[in-house]
Amino acid sequence: MTERTAQTGETAATPLHMIDLIRKKRDGARMTAAEIQFFVHGSARGIFPPEQIAAWLMAAWLRGLTREETYSLTVAMRDSGEKFNPAHLGRIAVDKHSTGGVGDKTSFLVAPIAAACGVAVPMISGRSLGHTGGTLDKLESIPGFRTAMSLPEFERVLESCGCSIISQTPNIVPADRVLYALRDRTATVESPSLICASILSKKLAAGLNGLVLDVKTGSGAFMRRQEDAEFLAALLVTTAEACGVRTVAMLTDMGQPLGRMAGNWIELIESMQLLRGERPQGSEPLRALSLILAGWMIHLGGRADTPHDGMLKAEAVLEDGTAGRIFLRMVEAQGGDARVFDQMHSFHRPGARRTIEAWESGYIARMDTTQLGWAVQRLGAGRVRASEPVDPHAGIEFHAHRGDWVEKGQPLATLFATRPGLFPEPEELVRTAIRLAPQAPRAVELVSRVWTRTNSEALLRDGIR
Ligand code: URA
Repeated sequence: MTERTAQTGETAATPLHMIDLIRKKRDGARMTAAEIQFFVHGSARGIFPPEQIAAWLMAAWLRGLTREETYSLTVAMRDSGEKFNPAHLGRIAVDKHSTGGVGDKTSFLVAPIAAACGVAVPMISGRSLGHTGGTLDKLESIPGFRTAMSLPEFERVLESCGCSIISQTPNIVPADRVLYALRDRTATVESPSLICASILSKKLAAGLNGLVLDVKTGSGAFMRRQEDAEFLAALLVTTAEACGVRTVAMLTDMGQPLGRMAGNWIELIESMQLLRGERPQGSEPLRALSLILAGWMIHLGGRADTPHDGMLKAEAVLEDGTAGRIFLRMVEAQGGDARVFDQMHSFHRPGARRTIEAWESGYIARMDTTQLGWAVQRLGAGRVRASEPVDPHAGIEFHAHRGDWVEKGQPLATLFATRPGLFPEPEELVRTAIRLAPQAPRAVELVSRVWTRTNSEALLRDGIR
């Protein structure tokens, strides 16, 4: 499409105009693939003004998109910029993506585990979003670690380590950069179709053969209600499969932080303990979920007949230290100083720490994990404005978890920040987020359901919300 035809959408047959597309979606009509492509192309190139793009996004949020429209949006966004082609790596390329959580550090485990089992893991990750932490912010707490790399550099790390974790390059899916920033400012983030196209366009641009999705539910998830999360999972799976990528989605519990640590550097401490074969108390759910996700990655990567076999292989390379060595090689290949892992605890240098103790005896009946995530962010682990730096040492160590019995005065959590003046708001958030009660809460499964193409198709058959 030339610049002139992109502005008006003129083709020999049908001229297109952005105002008509807004009206059409506002009135609940279905858009054609060509119209969606016109919208994405003009948005990515800065041809349409932000108010027109935002108006269309709000119309799409209110009216919803059909499965076909969601597919067309995903493909048009994927094709809006440059793409990575992992074909010559000689390994099947599989990635894992989480919809976002608190203390969710499975990427640091599954990437080297799957790589150790012969799968290529080209991982393009994000920064903290809302109350959730960002993989890139965590990695950047390693001195020297570079997440902004060119595609040729990405390729070199993949060739030497089997896995690499980088940020989106300026040219990968430029449409998402424009649309996401507008969604963030116009209350149009929480739309299953817009989330689906945003997540998948970036994953598909990485040229994956397989994808394992970790769709969170519970108090710390973007989609808190089980049925909303299930719908999103099914939509992600069917859309990615329609794009030729073998995909599964696990519905996993985010009703409490995953593991003991939530923050930046402290999440790497916990990950490295597991990569060294240690089994710290409180890290078992993180270890278990990482092995399940990695098992599926290894299976989709053609290195195990079943996900269960994949999980056994994953456990073997975790226990014998192979995955840990690959992780350290990746750190060095991306410019990081891997020696900090020799003195992980002394490298953790928060300016101030404060321990919160149980105010009465009881079971931990509920953890409002969104509130806990905000506490972590406001300790300095996240940012208010996109350009702000984050504090590598900020975060929270949880000493007890949902379902544990605690005695009055027993430590519940330790907060880390640069200075004591930052503690009051996060401390209040933690105190209100944790509910102590005389009865134990009901147990919640770590993985409540696995969505494959077959059951996802069945869920969506009755139409789209
Ligand atoms: N993560 C993304 O990349 N996009 C969304 O819309 C939501 C979460």
